[in-house]
Amino acid sequence: MATLIVVGAQWGDEGKGKIVHLLGKKADYIVRYQGGNNAGHTVVFDGKTFVLHQIPSGILQPGKKCIIANGVVLDPAALKEEILFLESRGIRVRGRLAVSAWAHLILPYHKYLDAHREAGSDKIGTTKKGIGPAYSDKVGRTGIRLADFMEPDLFRELVERNLQEKAPVLEQVISLDALRRETFKDYDALRKFFEPFVANTPALLQEALAAKKNVLFEGAQGALLDVDFGTYPFVTSSNPVAGAACVGAGVGPGAIDEVLGVVKAYTTRVGDGPFPTELTGEMGEFLRSRGQEFGATTGRPRRCGWFDAVVMRHSVRVNGITRLALTKLDILEGVDPIRVCVAYRYKGKLLKDFPASRQAQAAVAPVYKDLPGFTGPVKGITQLNKLPVAARDYVRFLEKQSGAPVGFISMGRSRDETILIDKRFRWTP
Ligand code: IMO
Ligand code: MG
Repeated sequence: MATLIVVGAQWGDEGKGKIVHLLGKKADYIVRYQGGNNAGHTVVFDGKTFVLHQIPSGILQPGKKCIIANGVVLDPAALKEEILFLESRGIRVRGRLAVSAWAHLILPYHKYLDAHREAGSDKIGTTKKGIGPAYSDKVGRTGIRLADFMEPDLFRELVERNLQEKAPVLEQVISLDALRRETFKDYDALRKFFEPFVANTPALLQEALAAKKNVLFEGAQGALLDVDFGTYPFVTSSNPVAGAACVGAGVGPGAIDEVLGVVKAYTTRVGDGPFPTELTGEMGEFLRSRGQEFGATTGRPRRCGWFDAVVMRHSVRVNGITRLALTKLDILEGVDPIRVCVAYRYKGKLLKDFPASRQAQAAVAPVYKDLPGFTGPVKGITQLNKLPVAARDYVRFLEKQSGAPVGFISMGRSRDETILIDKRFRWTP
């Protein structure tokens, strides 16, 4: 590994946290480049479970440098809490985390706007963390960046301007005075707290790349939640796809060596929107309970379904995925047959490619190929040739259908529960 982007290949929650933690061992820098604290990356480390929302999962690897880059929208109050929480559990953060001065902020009014929208008929099932309104402001050129936050007079002026502009909507839920109080309550302390963290992160990365350091870019969400390529408008407001790592971190496209797509052996989605292979009956319930499919950020039950190769071909294409990390294969143990969606049927036609039309996305009927199930126990196996033949065949089928080879297989949250296939990903020195 030199520079590697790790992306979610489905609708998020594919297991990126574990994969980044695993590969982070060989990285010098771990960088978050988009999204915000809508992400929930779960890592089991030293027998303890950590859920990271804004800080790269690499922070749990002693000595590694972590960067929250410009493409992220960051909630200063929530970030401070996350830093203090990690430190209370013995993880050193100060001196290891740099936060981009260019990053846009999520402020209290963004959360109210998000919640207000979610209470209406345009609801899409967001995490209500203020992500959409914060990115809207960024693109609408009324956003406030960390650099602005560090300048008290400017910050106050920009907040006031935004409150006035958004007053017609905000005042339906909260008075501007209450909102001002909430916004400025801890402002001075927060600003001082962040002083040592604020950095010119593109310059840091340029230096790292020039010194041939290993840099790992940690994506949040997944390709099907991408604002361009996902199931629009049921998406997040950033670009989780790999290409966004360059813009979101301030590095050139030539700097990237490899793109690893993290993919579950089945599919999950949390929030509303199209999900062609969704299982609403007993099988969906089974996957949810065995796979512990509940949101790490909001606790909502995840919707579950079969593996969707149409989605994966789309994802491999729009991300430029060169290798896959297949997670949660063990959850399918004993399921027979295992179904894989290989195409869609729509208006009498067979679709091999994921459609752009929201009507088509909502109405397609999956065409399934049934594969024989496997019996275990597979959990604990660390060599590919020890897996039952049917499990290996399933993996090969997914590779062929998706169009990218599997570099490793994960069958549990801990680092040892992994089968390494592509030796270049070896994380032990
Ligand atoms: P990680 O990084 C799964 C979903 C929300 C909602 C949509 C928009 O853990 O994979 P937002 O709050 O972003 O405006 O909500 O996106 N969503 C996620 N789903 N995993 C995530 O992150 C998600 N982050 C946002 O549920 O459907
Ligand atoms: Mg998650």
